[in-house]
Amino acid sequence: MPQQLFPGVYSFGRNIATKNSTPGYRVYGEKLEKQKDGEYRFWDPFRSKIGAAILKGLKNFPVKPDSNVLYLGASTGTTSSHIADITKGQVYCVEFGKRVARDLMHVCEKKTNMIPIVADARHPWEYAQLIGPVDVLIQDVAQPRQADIVLVNSHHFPFTDVLLSIKSRSIDSSRNPKKVIRGEVAKLKGEFNVVQELELEPFEKDHVLVHLKRK
Ligand SMILES: C[S@@+](CC[C@H](N)C(=O)[O-])C[C@H]1O[C@@H](n2cnc3c(N)ncnc32)[C@H](O)[C@@H]1O
Repeated sequence: MPQQLFPGVYSFGRNIATKNSTPGYRVYGEKLEKQKDGEYRFWDPFRSKIGAAILKGLKNFPVKPDSNVLYLGASTGTTSSHIADITKGQVYCVEFGKRVARDLMHVCEKKTNMIPIVADARHPWEYAQLIGPVDVLIQDVAQPRQADIVLVNSHHFPFTDVLLSIKSRSIDSSRNPKKVIRGEVAKLKGEFNVVQELELEPFEKDHVLVHLKRK
């Protein structure tokens, strides 16, 4: 039987999984496993930084079964679909790549608490009216100005917690990755406390996942 790691997140030995809110439906070819209490969807840490962070020892998982989540950089819905399994709240999925957004929309048709928003995460004023109150920001945009994107969104939405994926090579591939990440996190310390910072190797190289809480 699976063990619960956090509400809605389970371990099957070395694997993690969420309970599939749409039984029989796969998003990215992941394994499905039926148990007496429902169907579980395996969560691939090599495809998802949040999945990797959970396996690397994330201590507090801010997404609760009733959280509303703003997800920036949803791509084709790999990670956001697991978030949508965990919460019955709304998962607002912002993505600006038109091609990947098309695949995302198919996922959102099945997982009806995922709301697709084709927009630029750097311009939250363009989607602020489409979004209700949110508790958690998840950001995985692989952009140069990742801290600035958190800050500008924090001025439009009242979330208390942030799970921020920072890829040092997207910011500056010529500098030491640890220094690049330290510099980006420092920009956030005026408005947020750092709860935990996790390196994601071996699942991702030169990536950290930072959990922040609003002061
Ligand atoms: C690393 S991928 C995200 C993977 C996804 N979070 C997952 O785990 O399933 C980064 C995504 O961010 C999107 N992106 C980059 N800059 C963006 C921006 N300014 N606004 C919206 N999406 C952006 C890219 O198009 C890409 O799909």
